[in-house]
Amino acid sequence: MSDTGSVNTPLPPNGEDLSLRELLRNYISLIGLALAAVSLANIIFLFLLDLLSKRPSPYIGLLAYMVMPGFFVFGLLLVPFGMWRQRSLHRRKLPTLPKFPLLDLNNPAQRSSIAFFLAFVVLFVIMSAIGSYQGYEYTDSTQFCGQLCHTVMHPEYTAHQNSPHARVRCVDCHVGNGASWYVRSKMSGLRQVYYTVLGTYPRPIETPVANLRPAPETCEQCHWPKKFWGAQLKVINEFGDDEKNTPRQISLLIKTGGGDANNGEAMGIHWHMNIANVVMYKSDPTRMNIPWVQITDREGRTTVFTEKGVDAATINKMAERRMDCVDCHNRPTHDFPPPDRSVDNALATNRIDRNLPYAKMEGVQLLTATYKTTPEALQAIATQIPAFYKDKYPDIAKSKAGEIEEMVSQLQKIFQRTIFPEMKVTWQTHPNNIGHYYFQGCFRCHDGNHVSPDGKVITKDCNACHTILSQTEGAASIAATPQGMQFKHPVDIGDLKDVNCSDCHTGGVGP
Ligand code: HEC
Ligand code: HEC
Ligand code: HEC
Ligand code: HEC
Ligand code: HEC
Ligand code: HEC
Repeated sequence: MSDTGSVNTPLPPNGEDLSLRELLRNYISLIGLALAAVSLANIIFLFLLDLLSKRPSPYIGLLAYMVMPGFFVFGLLLVPFGMWRQRSLHRRKLPTLPKFPLLDLNNPAQRSSIAFFLAFVVLFVIMSAIGSYQGYEYTDSTQFCGQLCHTVMHPEYTAHQNSPHARVRCVDCHVGNGASWYVRSKMSGLRQVYYTVLGTYPRPIETPVANLRPAPETCEQCHWPKKFWGAQLKVINEFGDDEKNTPRQISLLIKTGGGDANNGEAMGIHWHMNIANVVMYKSDPTRMNIPWVQITDREGRTTVFTEKGVDAATINKMAERRMDCVDCHNRPTHDFPPPDRSVDNALATNRIDRNLPYAKMEGVQLLTATYKTTPEALQAIATQIPAFYKDKYPDIAKSKAGEIEEMVSQLQKIFQRTIFPEMKVTWQTHPNNIGHYYFQGCFRCHDGNHVSPDGKVITKDCNACHTILSQTEGAASIAATPQGMQFKHPVDIGDLKDVNCSDCHTGGVGP
C-alpha cells in the first residue's frame, strides 16, 4: 500500500484535528468499507433467499451465516485500522497533532459523526444477534448436518429421510438441549470438518456411536418411558426363493408393554428393561458380544448373568454401559434394511410383480452382489434383470416387458436407499438390534446361555416377547387360536430354542 493517499490530504492547521473524512481517505479503510458493504448486501440477499425458499440449499446458510459475516467483520475491522495508520502517517509530518483524536460535541460535524457511529453500533449489535441466532439455528438444521458433507453423511441422511423420524432434526437425537452438549457437538463437528477436508474420515462412519448423549436426554424428551404402549401387532410378509415366490405371512403380537402401573398394567418389553430396573452390561466395542449382564430391581437386589464358556479375564477387560433405548432401538432412523426384507416389502406391496418367476431370488441376488460404485450397481440391475428373463423366460420377457422394467426401477430405488458403496455402508455394517431374525439383537442376551449363580437364565422362551397369532404359507393357513401358537419353521431345523436365527437368515441370498 502506498502513501499517496495521505500525501494528497491537506494537513490541518496547528492545534486542529483531522476530520473523519480525512481520516477515512486511505486505501485500507476504503477497501474495508467496500468489503463490508458488499458482504452486507450479500447477507441481506441470502437471508431473504433462505427465508423465502421452501427447501433452501444448505450452502445458502453456510454463506449467509458463516462465510459472509466473516468478510463483513473483517471489512469493518479494516476501517479503523486504516484510520489509525492514516493518523500515524500524519503525525510523522505534523508532530503537533495530538496522539488521540479530540472529541468535541460542540462541533456539529463531529456530533453527527458520533451519532452516526452510535447508530451503527446499535444496528450492528441487533444484526449480530439475529445473525448468531440464525447461525445457531442453521448449524442445528438437518440440511447442515445431512447435506453439507454430501458423501460422508449421505447414508445416514438418506435413511433418516425415509424413516418415521424424517421430521425430527439430527440435533434432537445427537445433541439435545443445553449449552454444554451444544459446545461439545460443535467441537467434534470441527474435527469432522477437518477430516472431511482431508478426506480421512472412516468409511463407514463407525457405529455404535461411543459418546452418543444418553437416551433420557434425547429420545425420552419425546417418548417418555412411562407411557404405556400396549401390545403391537406386526404383520410380516415374506417370499420364498422358488419360482413362484411363495408368499408366507406371520402375524405377531409384540408385547411392547409399558412402565407405569398408573397408565396401564406394568409389563412387557419396555417395563422390564427401563423403569423399575437398571440393566448394566459389559461388551466388546461393537456391542455385539455381551457376556455379562447385571440387573438391579426396585428393591436394590442385583442379579448377574454371565455367558457360559466366557472367562472372567475377558469380561473384566470389557467396557460397562447402562442399557437404554438405543441398545434395542439402535436404528430408529438410520435403518439399512437387508435386501431380503426390502424385496419382500416391494413384492408385498406389488411394486414388484409377484408373478415374475424368481423375482425374489433374482432381486436379492443382484442387490447383494458387491459393487464399487452406485452407478455400477444401477447399471448391473438394468442389464441383468431383462437379460435373465430374456434368457430363461422369453415369453414372459415379451408379455411382461412393462413389469420387468418396473422391477428394474424398484430394485434401483432399493439400492439407492439402502446400500452405499462409496461409504462402504450395507445392512451388514449397521446391524439392527430389534428382534433376532437377521442379527443377534435380543439374543445377544436372550440366547438361553446367560445364567446367574443361582441358575436363573435370561429367557429364550418363544412366547416371552411375542405371541404368534397366525402363520400362512401360500394359500394355506397354519392354525391360529386366540391364545397364540407355536411358530412353525417352514423347514424342519429341530428345536428352535437351540438355534440362532441369524446364523442362516443373513438378509442376503439364502433363506
Ligand atoms: C431419532 C433420533 C435420530 C435422529 C433424528 C438422527 N439420528 Fe443419527 N443416530 C441415532 C442413533 C440412535 C445412532 C447411534 C446408533 C448406535 O450407536 O448404535 C445414530 C448414529 C448416527 C451416525 C453414526 C453411524 C451410524 O449409522 O450408526 C451418524 C453419522 C449419524 N447418526 C448422523 C445423523 C444425521 C446426519 C442426522 C440428520 C440427517 C441424524 N443422524 C439424525 C439417532 C438419530
Ligand atoms: C423430537 C422428538 C423425537 C425424538 C427426540 C425422538 N423421537 Fe422417536 N418418534 C418421534 C415421532 C414424531 C415419531 C413418529 C410417530 C408416528 O409416526 O406415529 C417417532 C417414532 C418412533 C418410533 C416408532 C417407529 C415406527 O417404526 O413406527 C420409535 C421406535 C422411536 N421413535 C424411537 C426413538 C428413539 C430410540 C429415539 C432416540 C434415539 C427417538 N425416538 C427420538 C419423535 C421423536
Ligand atoms: C429391550 C429392548 C427395548 C428397549 C430398551 C426399548 N425398546 Fe422400545 N421397543 C422395543 C420393541 C421390541 C418394540 C416393538 C416394535 C418392534 O418390534 O419394532 C418397541 C417399540 C417402541 C416404540 C413404538 C411403539 C408403538 O406402539 O408404535 C417406541 C416409540 C419405542 N419403542 C420407544 C422406546 C424408547 C423411547 C425407549 C427408551 C426409553 C425404548 N423404546 C426402549 C424394544 C425396546
Ligand atoms: C443387555 C442384555 C439384554 C438385551 C440386549 C435384551 N434383554 Fe431383555 N432382559 C434382559 C435381562 C437381564 C432380563 C431379566 C431376566 C430376569 O430377570 O430373569 C430381561 C428380561 C426381558 C423380558 C421379561 C422376560 C420375563 O420373563 O419376564 C422381556 C419381555 C425382554 N427382556 C425383552 C427383550 C427384547 C424384546 C429384547 C430385544 C429387542 C431384549 N429383551 C434385549 C437383558 C437383555
Ligand atoms: C427376547 C425377546 C424375544 C424372544 C425370546 C423371541 N423373540 Fe421372536 N421376535 C422378537 C422381536 C422383538 C421380534 C420383532 C422384530 C421386528 O420388529 O421386526 C421378533 C420376531 C420374530 C419373528 C418374525 C421374524 C421375521 O422377520 O420374519 C419370528 C418368526 C419369531 N420372532 C420367532 C421366534 C421364535 C421361534 C422364538 C423362540 C426360539 C422367539 N421368536 C423368541 C423378540 C423375541
Ligand atoms: C439352519 C438354518 C436356519 C436356521 C437356524 C433358521 N432358519 Fe428360518 N429358514 C431356513 C430356511 C432354509 C428357510 C426356507 C427358505 C425358503 O424356503 O425359501 C427358512 C425360512 C424361514 C421363514 C420364512 C420366511 C422366508 O423368507 O421364507 C421364517 C419366518 C423363518 N425361517 C424364521 C426363523 C426363525 C425365527 C429362526 C430362529 C428361531 C430361524 N428361522 C432359524 C433356515 C434356517
